[in-house]
Amino acid sequence: MPDLSTTYLGLNLKNPLVASASPISRKVERARQLEEAGIAAIIMYSLFEEQITHESLEFDHYLARGSDSFPEASSHLPDGDLYDVSPKNYLNQVTGLKKALNIPVIGSLNGVTKGGWTNYACQIQDAGADALELNMYYLAANPDISSSDIENMQLELVAEVKSAIRIPLAVKISPFVTAMANFAKRLVEAGADGLVLFNRFYQPDLDLEELEVVHSLDLSTSADLRLPLRWISILYGKINADLALTSGVHTSGDVLKAMMAGAKVAMLASELLRDGSAQRVREILSHTQTWMEEHDYQSIRHMQGSMSQKSVKDPAAFERANYMKVLHSFRELP
Ligand SMILES: Cc1cc2nc3c(=O)[nH]c(=O)nc-3n(C[C@H](O)[C@H](O)[C@H](O)COP(=O)(O)O)c2cc1C
Repeated sequence: MPDLSTTYLGLNLKNPLVASASPISRKVERARQLEEAGIAAIIMYSLFEEQITHESLEFDHYLARGSDSFPEASSHLPDGDLYDVSPKNYLNQVTGLKKALNIPVIGSLNGVTKGGWTNYACQIQDAGADALELNMYYLAANPDISSSDIENMQLELVAEVKSAIRIPLAVKISPFVTAMANFAKRLVEAGADGLVLFNRFYQPDLDLEELEVVHSLDLSTSADLRLPLRWISILYGKINADLALTSGVHTSGDVLKAMMAGAKVAMLASELLRDGSAQRVREILSHTQTWMEEHDYQSIRHMQGSMSQKSVKDPAAFERANYMKVLHSFRELP
């Protein structure tokens, strides 16, 4: 039987399938079913900077003026209970998941500016998280802020969070970076033990009848795998950090590709949310194992990086050279 075990952020995992940050981790029972089905680790949904600053602003307001309403600062927070807006509940959920599960639980902080909210990195650690993922979702929409301003802001944030914790730190990044390989290297120098490629950006649409901007979340498909796959292949062996692939992992084939490109783990969100059953995890694991047996792979570790840019016959295939070839290979339908 092939050995599916891997390591990620210094954690020993029984296989490379990790539940990516999503509402799945809100329900302990759901997380336990995934664990039983074989998922090797779980990333919690994020605690957002806005949630933390909202709560502390609300507290200041309460101290200053009493308990009357507090409409400011809350307009950008979601209605309903998709993400519970209490940091205290978040920390309780970390502890609850740790108690209920034997697999590693990774906390997730989501924010962009340095500040008091990053104390929560330490609190997530103290609540029992085995590692922390920092998601720096940011849209570079201000014409007066340059790419180096943004990168420096993010590097400082990583250094600040890293200096506050003892547990390993992974940084979930965006594909929209001018010089990806250089930025990745500097994130590692700033303290990232792992990089998670890539944050998925949800694009607003326009409703022509209502003349409104519409926000909707489309789950991914396997076609979304290509972008992180390419960058993991390129970065493998060039930076001193574990690489995790998120976006477009739906099948055993996607997991195998992620491993061959050089990822330590393949993360799933859409597939688990769409299918809703732990059975899907069992299927993906068993198909991965069968494929490895049929192709004489003894372990995932031997497979990792075997099709990275460093290892393939045609390294240029990952870069500009490939661009012209692909365009020229297109044939119109007769
Ligand atoms: C409903 C939903 C909620 C998510 N919430 C978070 C979150 O709280 N923090 C985070 O870093 N990523 C979050 N993500 C992004 C996922 O972790 C993942 O990176 C992304 O969906 C791409 O993976 P996929 O193709 O498997 O869906 C969320 C995704 C979905 C679909």
